[in-house]
Amino acid sequence: MIMNQGKEIAVIVGSASQELGQSICKHLGIDPTKSEVITFSEGNTFVRILENVRGKDTYIIQGVNYPVDKNFMELLFWVDALKLASAAKVTAVIPFFSYAKGDKKDEPRVSIRARVCFDALEAAGADRVLTMDLHSPQIQGFFRKPVDHLFARSAIQNYFASIVKKDEWVVASADVGYGKNAFKFGQEMDLPVVIGNKIRKDHSENAQVWNIVGEVAGKNVLIVDDIIFTGGSLISMAQAARSQGAKDIYAAVTHGVLTPSSQSKLEASLIKELIITDTVEYRFEPLSPKIKVVTVAPLFAEAISRIHNNESISALFPS
Ligand code: R5P
Repeated sequence: MIMNQGKEIAVIVGSASQELGQSICKHLGIDPTKSEVITFSEGNTFVRILENVRGKDTYIIQGVNYPVDKNFMELLFWVDALKLASAAKVTAVIPFFSYAKGDKKDEPRVSIRARVCFDALEAAGADRVLTMDLHSPQIQGFFRKPVDHLFARSAIQNYFASIVKKDEWVVASADVGYGKNAFKFGQEMDLPVVIGNKIRKDHSENAQVWNIVGEVAGKNVLIVDDIIFTGGSLISMAQAARSQGAKDIYAAVTHGVLTPSSQSKLEASLIKELIITDTVEYRFEPLSPKIKVVTVAPLFAEAISRIHNNESISALFPS
């Protein structure tokens, strides 16, 4: 990776993204900036940068996944520490942002949590956010500074390149919400797309797909989504697809949160294989053999290099 001559870069790897962060640094050809995180016995988090970052273009890689609030506070402290240490620019690299789902006031007396988080990041001094597959792209509007938004599609498509055959496969989304992204998959893989009619009645994390718009009979199905929590959406979509005559059913999601017991449900489900990326590394349980992980480290490294060198990020996603 070619770095801008004369402008120094520093990358801190936060405690939520150790493996991905180290791997991004390897792809960038740099060592992570030395740093330490201490959690005191009462649960209070302390962060410290152990090298000079004055005048540097700095990046803190820290996912906002389980334990979500602790990891988010650590991210804020890193941004503040970098600012106070006179970094020239601070980019918050957030591979997975859990609070992206709190993006609206669609029932009385609730908080728009994604906006609160972006307000806090801005107040702490973040100049830019780099993230991947936000639950909805309009969340970027909650941050008054630039947001660079990456997509994991290419990493997932590479995995399926040698398996998928035109005329034998369809791409599926369990709901209309992810439909636009499913159509991108379909366009780039030259496959038709079907959409499920997913309903959630309450906050009980119980999703049900009632119907599918499009033809799945006799086809292999690749269900795509942004996140898996309980697995309910994918599993219910797989059941609906099989009941309409689908053959083998695969799934691919960017953020493998995989909450407790999601994996045993997946094991027992009609899903043959689930592909996730390495944006979330916290595991409630060891990974099931049904789940394969593809890395998005090269994509994040390329994006950091492009931000550092003032090059286009959208050029990475031509379609
Ligand atoms: C919903 O809008 C999201 O895109 C995912 O489909 C959903 O959050 C996955 O949750 P679960 O795995 O619990 O069904």
